[in-house]
Amino acid sequence: MKGFHLTTFGCQMNEHDSERMKGMLVALGYGEVQERGDADLILFNTCSIRESADNRFIGHLGEAKRLKAEDPTRVVGVGGCWAQSVKDEVFARFPFVDVAFGPGQIHKLAEFLTSDSLTAQGYFEFEGFPGELPAHRAREHQAWVQVSVGCNCVCAYCIVPSTRGREASRAPHKLVAEVERLASEGVREVTLLGQNVNSYGRDLPVGAKATFAELLAMVDAVEGIERIRYTSPHPKDMREDVVRAHAELASVCEHIHLPLQAGSSRILKAMRRTYDRPRYLDRVDMIREIVPDCALSTDIIVGFPGETEEDFLETLEVVDRVGYDSAFTFVFSARRGTLAADLPDQLPHSVKRERMERLVPLVQRRARERSQRFIGRDMEVLVEGASRTDPARLRGRIRHNKTVNFDGAAGPGELVEVEISSATSTTLAGSERLLARLR
Ligand code: SAH
Ligand code: SF4
Ligand code: F3S
Repeated sequence: MKGFHLTTFGCQMNEHDSERMKGMLVALGYGEVQERGDADLILFNTCSIRESADNRFIGHLGEAKRLKAEDPTRVVGVGGCWAQSVKDEVFARFPFVDVAFGPGQIHKLAEFLTSDSLTAQGYFEFEGFPGELPAHRAREHQAWVQVSVGCNCVCAYCIVPSTRGREASRAPHKLVAEVERLASEGVREVTLLGQNVNSYGRDLPVGAKATFAELLAMVDAVEGIERIRYTSPHPKDMREDVVRAHAELASVCEHIHLPLQAGSSRILKAMRRTYDRPRYLDRVDMIREIVPDCALSTDIIVGFPGETEEDFLETLEVVDRVGYDSAFTFVFSARRGTLAADLPDQLPHSVKRERMERLVPLVQRRARERSQRFIGRDMEVLVEGASRTDPARLRGRIRHNKTVNFDGAAGPGELVEVEISSATSTTLAGSERLLARLR
């Protein structure tokens, strides 16, 4: 049997694409090996969202080059967003790469591997959803479901529209069929994936249209699915029907990831986010009114070109006011081909770092304060397995997406009640209510 080794970088989209690549490779008769040096087929699923992502990957690619030089029969393949973004130069710059493909073309890997000439092939079309592929899920009880590919936004800093193409939604009946199949395999939690899930369905043909809120209702109706999550919505498209779905549909979790990016309306405009600070805060108020206990998380970029100290203080203010349950914070990174990369007033690294050092403690303090509300409550936990820090304990997540480490006797995939006894900014701790489980 031929062995493959696949390294994945980047976001959940890539994680999910990699699951599908693995499913496809297993169907072709390949087996996964743990060491890159033991593989006949060395694959990378790459990300290019920030410069740091590129740099991380380039080191790994160096090792692949060395392994290929040792044994030229090895095949080296590079897929994903980095591959797409360097498509015109990839074979000239990296001649040891045999096959390269963009995120929309993972199914072409099979075509390549079964062709006669295993050398210098590139696949970079955008053609909507890249076919139905069997996925090799990492977790038995949780699954990703891709509702759309691509992105029609034009955020000035972002490379994704150029690596993933125009937005294309999958038909609702296909998505429901996929979720039904997953449920029959024992999946209890699904995470719906799209770059902007809230614009789901707008491109579907008349007569076969569904809004994202309608899709949530269809997935909620699938027997066996206990939890629905999704990522990411865009604040500009976050409407009341979707927020109501969190309150009204039993499986839709009390957590919304609402990427802020910046707290200053001036910077949001330069970023081309198409909402301003008041509009964002209105969305937050609406969520808090309709789903009072909802967890909120976000993405924030510091050091966008032209960001002044006053602009940055506005970001701090929004973070303080909203009180996120968690936040991913990023230093602005100029990406090839994006509008923001060519803007004047790029900030020195020292300023970006210094702002980050002020933002992170505030994010952590607010998250720690927010998580205290769980102490003393019985929370429903979906068990994932043994705790990472103490194998004698269990690990799982509450509907609000916080990880819980707890004492208990349940197995992976079970839903149990855990009484929460302590909380940090990122994790909760507690013990399972055995009597509650017997109910
Ligand atoms: N489509 C998703 C997320 C895309 S990328 C969304 O819009 O929510 C995930 C996050 O990476 C973004 O939300 C943004 O905060 C960050 N990001 C994207 N491009 C970046 C860049 N050039 N520099 C720094 N952070 C960036
Ligand atoms: Fe990038 Fe903006 Fe699209 Fe998100 S919505 S993928 S940040 S262009
Ligand atoms: Fe995801 Fe990175 Fe592409 S974040 S969409 S894999 S650039």
